[in-house]
Order: sequence, then structure tokens, then C-alpha cells
Amino acid sequence: MPAGDADSTRRNWRDRWADPGFAPHWRSDAMDEPVRRAVEDGFFARGSSVLDIGCGSGEVAAFLADQGLRATGIDHAEPAIDRALARFGDRDGLAFRVADFCVEAGDIGRFDAALDRGCLHSLPPAIKPDYVRALCALLPPEGGFLLLHKTHKTDPARERLAVGDVRAGIEGLFSDAFETLSVEDMQFGSGSDPMPGLAFRMRRRQSPG
Ligand SMILES: C[S@@+](CC[C@H](N)C(=O)[O-])C[C@H]1O[C@@H](n2cnc3c(N)ncnc32)[C@H](O)[C@@H]1O
Repeated sequence: MPAGDADSTRRNWRDRWADPGFAPHWRSDAMDEPVRRAVEDGFFARGSSVLDIGCGSGEVAAFLADQGLRATGIDHAEPAIDRALARFGDRDGLAFRVADFCVEAGDIGRFDAALDRGCLHSLPPAIKPDYVRALCALLPPEGGFLLLHKTHKTDPARERLAVGDVRAGIEGLFSDAFETLSVEDMQFGSGSDPMPGLAFRMRRRQSPG
């Protein structure tokens, strides 16, 4: 992807998060069921380290820290991290930092597991292979990855996509480096405006397939 496109995508997110009135419909304090279950059944083991990629205002990372994980949230939009720090900055086991995951993953550290709620699906297609490479750089073999991905287009009408196409696209993108353990329907958020999606549990392969 041309650097100019990446810059304008980042600027766009920064401007949205910098607007005090920005209250996205997908943001929610009611934790998504696949995240809750990943802690309950040990996919995200208590005491282990987990990276929340594109953490926005930090609700998921804060939930994971409250559940006994060592959680780090990163986002390339500084105002998003400012919001996260303002609300959750004093929690134990929780850190936030500004970073572009696709460019700076090598500097972010190593983690036992990772989670993405809505970051990958917001990336331009040309940059997605960089994302997978970045994920491989910070997870060990067998490291778990939970991906929450929408199943509609980014337009005001939120036109639905064929679930099979979304699934095939994700599995095609990740299959060399990750084994898919499960895929299930989910909803982002709750209340009057939930958004449909898919939750993928993946595990990094021992060696590329
Ligand atoms: C749809 S929002 C989801 C935010 C949060 N995960 C949540 O569920 O509320 C996507 C987030 O990914 C961030 N993002 C997009 N591309 C990124 C990148 N390359 N590196 C880090 N963060 C990124 C955006 O700034 C935005 O906050």
C-alpha cells in the first residue's frame, strides 16, 4: 500500500478519536461472549501476556487485565490511547501504547497470545499480509489468536457480506502461519445496535504450512 494511503488511514482514525463526540456504535462495556469464554476456558490463560491489537479506548484490554491477564493495548491513534489511559491507566496488569501494528510490531514485544476486535477488518487489503507477518513476529509457536471480524461492509447501510466469503478470506490470509481452531457467529456490542461478526480462534503453527 502506498505510504500516503497508510498515513491518511491513520489520520482518519486519529481525527475520529480526537472528536470528543465520537461514540462508536461498536464500542461496548458489555464484553463480547467470545472474549469472555476465551478467558473462562483458558484459551487466554490467567497470568499470561496478551496483546490487544487496535485497542481503541481500551475496554477489552481492561477486561482482560481485570481477569488476571497481563494485557497490553496498542493503537496507532494517539487520542484513542489517551482515552484508554484516562479511563484505565491506573489498573494493575494493564499497559497501553501508541504504535502502528503493521509497521512497529518488532518493537512492541513478545506475547503469549493476541486478540483483535475490529482492527484487521478496518485495514486496507494491501496491508493485511504485513499484519499477519507482524503477528507471527510477536507470538510463539502454538500462541493463540482471537480475531473478531465484522460480516458487513463499511457503509451507512452496513450491507451484509456472505459469511462463507468472509471466512474463506480470513482463512486464506492466515492459513500458512495459523491453524483455525474454531469459527463462530458473534455480535459486536449489545443493546439496540449490535453488529454481526465472526469470531475466529487460531493457533500459530509450529512452522509455516
Ligand atoms: C473498529 S476500531 C476497534 C477498537 C477496539 N478494538 C474496540 O473494539 O472498541 C479499530 C481500531 O484499530 C486501530 N487501528 C487501525 N489500524 C491500526 C494499525 N495499523 N495499528 C494499530 N492500530 C490500528 C484504529 O485506530 C481503531 O482504534
